[in-house]
Amino acid sequence: MNELVSYSQDNELAIITINNPPVNALSPGVPEGIAEGVARANADDAIKGLVLIGGGRTFIAGADIKEFGKVISGEKKEGSLLPLLTALEDSPKPVVAALHGSAFGGGLEIAMACHYRVAAKDAQVGQPEVKLGIIPGAAGTQRLPRLAGVAKAVEMCVSGAPVKAADALAAGLVDQLIEGDLLAGAQAFLREKIAANATHPRTRERNDKLGDEATNTPLFAAARESAKKTARGLTAPFAAIDAVEAATKLSFDEGVQVERKLFEQCLFSDQAKALMHVFFAEREVAKVPGLSPDAKSIEIKQAAIIGAGTMGGGIAMNFANAGVPVLLKETTQEALDRGIATITKNYSNTVKKGRLTEEAMAERLALITPTLGYDGFENADVIIEAVFENMALKKEIFAELDKRAKPGALLASNTSSLNLDEIAATTSRASSVIGLHFFSPANVMRLLEIVRGKATSDEAIASAFALGKLMKKVGVLVGNCHGFVGNRMFFQYMREGHFLVEEGASVEAVDKALTDFGMAMGILAVDDMAGIDVGVKVRQENAKHEAPGRRQPLVVDRLYEMGRYGQKTGAGWYKYDENRRATPDPAVAALIEKTAQAAGITRREIGAREIVERCVYALINEGAKILDEGYALRAGDIDIVYLNGYGFPAWRGGPMWYADTVGLKTVYDRVCEFQAQHGAWWEPAPLLKRLAETGGTFAALGKAKGD
Ligand code: 3HC
Ligand code: NAI
Repeated sequence: MNELVSYSQDNELAIITINNPPVNALSPGVPEGIAEGVARANADDAIKGLVLIGGGRTFIAGADIKEFGKVISGEKKEGSLLPLLTALEDSPKPVVAALHGSAFGGGLEIAMACHYRVAAKDAQVGQPEVKLGIIPGAAGTQRLPRLAGVAKAVEMCVSGAPVKAADALAAGLVDQLIEGDLLAGAQAFLREKIAANATHPRTRERNDKLGDEATNTPLFAAARESAKKTARGLTAPFAAIDAVEAATKLSFDEGVQVERKLFEQCLFSDQAKALMHVFFAEREVAKVPGLSPDAKSIEIKQAAIIGAGTMGGGIAMNFANAGVPVLLKETTQEALDRGIATITKNYSNTVKKGRLTEEAMAERLALITPTLGYDGFENADVIIEAVFENMALKKEIFAELDKRAKPGALLASNTSSLNLDEIAATTSRASSVIGLHFFSPANVMRLLEIVRGKATSDEAIASAFALGKLMKKVGVLVGNCHGFVGNRMFFQYMREGHFLVEEGASVEAVDKALTDFGMAMGILAVDDMAGIDVGVKVRQENAKHEAPGRRQPLVVDRLYEMGRYGQKTGAGWYKYDENRRATPDPAVAALIEKTAQAAGITRREIGAREIVERCVYALINEGAKILDEGYALRAGDIDIVYLNGYGFPAWRGGPMWYADTVGLKTVYDRVCEFQAQHGAWWEPAPLLKRLAETGGTFAALGKAKGD
């Protein structure tokens, strides 16, 4: 056997163990090792059955995604798993797959080709391929409906979501759950089957769960309809439905061929490349080059928050959800009551939706201690300030925290625009001060910008990442520039949205072009949701940080003066009904027309393509500046910010990845054209220029630095 797969014997049973840490991905050598084990067991008369099991923390997490990269680039041919699956299923001696951890993708496909599956209680099974822009490629779409039924197969292949062992048992995917030692349980199970049965089931020969046309036709129609909403813009979920449908209409072998064709179409698509980039970028983001390997994160047993407003309340919920007791401080009883009432309402809504039990809600609320004083702050391992965006107030609070917090406690500010170093300077321990920029609603949004100040220590950074993980957020380390990474880019994006309507595009056309591109919402709808008043104030603040004399948007200031603050006032760029449903407002169209005319702006037809280029290239150009100035570590980090905080479509990989796919020369040339037409806002980022001239990409830049 090879070193990735080991073979041992326990009396009449052969045990094949996969040892490819950390997740037993099916890297080259693993399928071959398993096949060798199967052949060896079948050649040995003393062997009556085989157990296939994963060493370490998991069964098999699927194909090796890095290898797909090589296949896509043409460096190598894909090694199909199909011959191995046939060898397992045709094995004259029964094979049981013993599952723990994750049996995902190719891992589940291998398990389904075995005659039996047993699972530890904490095991999960799934076909997560759609999350990578592909579909199961080793007969998963053909065996899964045969074991779990058509509806379950569609659900699993379209959502990519994992299924817990107990649900897998109920669905028929798993034959038995094992308490205690998995290997011993699997052996006992197999011995029973050997004693009781002369023949052992082959999944591909089972047709009893494949349904009939009368039940399947509406099921597939409903699945496609639902995917149009849940998987907008994605191609793989629809390919997965087609493949499962083939299982219900064709023979097993013909179905496998259909699946293969669809799999290959998906594998070589831009979406698959983008989503595989996202998979690795999400994991790379927590790796900080240069951080001392000795930097240990603090243990977070007690937290404290100052300010129980919009953000403070949401952050308190994050701690409570993670089981960490948290003090929540306000200045008045009234503000405190309001904050707790909002938290309670949020939890109650989750209970009403059936996603939280009453008991769990009570437990979480009990972890949040409202307070008007600083008592107990001396025990907090992390303190997060979330008061009004006011420098004097924040300085006062950090000076107080410096006196009260225990040594080593992490002192964080949730500021979205103030200078972290200035805040840190009011303390005698700037190394413990960090920015934790949560996004609203803080209990929902996955993004957490971790802002590194001049003096922030490696321990503080490691602790912030650990805190993000604890809260199930994706932490991204950013530098202390105005707007950090996400908002600094967003200002440029928003600005173009505002200019485009003044130059002739309708409000609806701007938003439609962006949602058609894949954005979760159009920019003007976002402006209405966040609040026109908030946006105007932010812009006034930004003006202090930008070169004077640049063109400023006009209409949005008129909306502000009219009290049209967006959703919360029932009117902004759109009109809103009592359910906050938007409709176009002719009064806004007239206002735009009049304002543009008074300002001497020549209005013209603007197509969707220009709208997208203006908005998205503004993001990219600023992203390139941020990267060049060192405020983001890698282009992939910027992508992760945009995917998790700003509704950028994952299947486009993020703005920087998207720029690479368009071609940086194309993007740069267009930015230069915009500069010629629209002036200083469009000054090309030096990095974009350099890469365009040398044929480089943002993605390769990260690699060249050895990150
Ligand atoms: N291929 C290559 N590397 C993988 C991998 C895979 N399938 N799955 C995980 N890894 C790597 C990660 O990149 C990470 O590497 P790093 O330490 O160098 O950053 C390491 O393994 C650990 O991964 P996580 O940090 O994600 O560990 P967790 O414990 O948080 O999660 C997991 C484990 C749930 C298995 C998660 O890694 C996961 O979901 N992996 C992807 C599973 C997947 O998509 N499988 C389907 C592949 S496609 C396929 O099988 C096609 C088939 O139909 C032919
Ligand atoms: P908010 O106005 O909803 O809440 C601030 C709260 O702080 C108020 O309840 C106020 O009573 C309280 N407060 C003021 N001084 C205090 C003190 N000395 N001690 C205790 N409590 C005090 O404000 P919001 O929106 O929650 O913002 C808080 C911070 O988060 C700001 O720095 C803001 O820039 C930042 N932020 C806000 C986001 C948003 O979308 N609202 C997003 C990301 C960051």
